[in-house]
Amino acid sequence: MSTTVLIGAQWGDEGKGKITDILARRSQVVVRSQGGNNAGHTVEANGTVYKLHLLPSGILNPETLCLVGNGVVVDPKVILQEISQMREKGVSADNLKIDARAHVILPYHIALDGLSEQHRGKSEIGTTGRGIGPCYADKAERCGIRMWDLIHPEVFAQKVRENAVLKNKMITLVYGGEPIDADAVIEEYNAYAKALAPYVTDATVLLYRAIKSGKTVLFEGAQGTLLDLDLGTYPYVTSSHPVSSGACVGAGIGPTLIDDCIGVAKAYTTRVGKGPFPTELFDATGEAIRQKGGEFGTTTGRPRRCGWLDAVILKYSVRTSGLTKLAVNKLDTLSGIGKLKICAGYQKGGEVVSEFPADLSELALCSPVYEELDGWEEEISAVRNFGDLPRAAREYISRIEALCGVPVWMVGVGPGREQNIVRG
Ligand code: GDP
Ligand code: IMO
Ligand code: MG
Repeated sequence: MSTTVLIGAQWGDEGKGKITDILARRSQVVVRSQGGNNAGHTVEANGTVYKLHLLPSGILNPETLCLVGNGVVVDPKVILQEISQMREKGVSADNLKIDARAHVILPYHIALDGLSEQHRGKSEIGTTGRGIGPCYADKAERCGIRMWDLIHPEVFAQKVRENAVLKNKMITLVYGGEPIDADAVIEEYNAYAKALAPYVTDATVLLYRAIKSGKTVLFEGAQGTLLDLDLGTYPYVTSSHPVSSGACVGAGIGPTLIDDCIGVAKAYTTRVGKGPFPTELFDATGEAIRQKGGEFGTTTGRPRRCGWLDAVILKYSVRTSGLTKLAVNKLDTLSGIGKLKICAGYQKGGEVVSEFPADLSELALCSPVYEELDGWEEEISAVRNFGDLPRAAREYISRIEALCGVPVWMVGVGPGREQNIVRG
């Protein structure tokens, strides 16, 4: 038996999709356990770029069973579009199963996501606008609609009608928006339900049996530690649990069944949306990283905010997810950037803070304490052995290991499946 949880160790977009695709070739099951189509995971394989939002990145491997767990929020229209786009590219979704307990994103969630952001004005979160927060809010409020409901038309119709009464009051009377036509939603979603019904099952049973029969299972994280609802930079977070323990509740298994937890990081830091970012760069270096790294959102196309690597954040991810190792992607983006900096701690007043602060008001008092390291000029995207990297690049990785206390097991030097240096 081997079960591995793969999580984002920063603010998302660390290259989890690429690593999942690589590990999926050695995994019999790949599971998504949280988030929804706020995620955008890019996989480049066989000369084709795949952008996945809801489908696990293991879908590219026809041998791999792909599970969408109970903790995911599913937009039926989006997952069906994704299935058909993948079919057009020759990738089948026959190996996909969706848990009956997963909550369904409905048009009123999307409407309320936009309206509540407008209402927040300057203090908006900068959500992806996909209805994620309102859908998880309904789950916690216990009025959510689940995949099981969706595929039972009478139950679905009744629940949509019940919900629409209050949702439309909120949309129109609180926010001044346009009401949702419950009948039109029911008709449209009944068609999605027919198409999705064959995929809906109790995925927790499939997963448990797979683990018990000794299969290799990979949990593909979405978002990242600092977007975690509890442990992230609240309130500038998503509404699910991207840390490793989220995989247990989101896939319906106990923690004794998890063997390993791996964090994926970029060799620098990025963030989309609002919220604090201690090592953010507002200068030409930040712009150079954005352009060289193609740092534009996979889901919304927004330019990603870019900054130096923050080891305080990585250490926080190691601690809160029990990470045993890191995969560090996009080292190639740093070629030719000049001198490099890593944030090794924060300065707060007269003291040096080594742990990521629990509250944003404390984080606001912190400024990064940088270590400066030599950069390198050489392009490294063709390098496959660690020893063949320029000395400064090797030292950069070694410094990350020393600061975070875990080994860097894989180094990414390009977006392609093969553009990785696996160590040890
Ligand atoms: P995810 O959300 O964590 O799966 O990451 P995204 O797919 O949103 O963003 C990562 C981006 O970096 C994608 O465009 C990947 O193709 C790309 N990428 C991943 N690893 C590397 C790498 O090592 N080097 C470069 N240059 N690009 C990479
Ligand atoms: P992947 O899986 C980066 C961010 C949004 C916003 C905040 C809340 O590709 O790493 P939401 O729509 O979830 O309510 O938005 O979270 N966000 C992400 N940022 N990568 C993601 O996913 C993200 N999913 C959500 O930009 O700041
Ligand atoms: Mg992404």
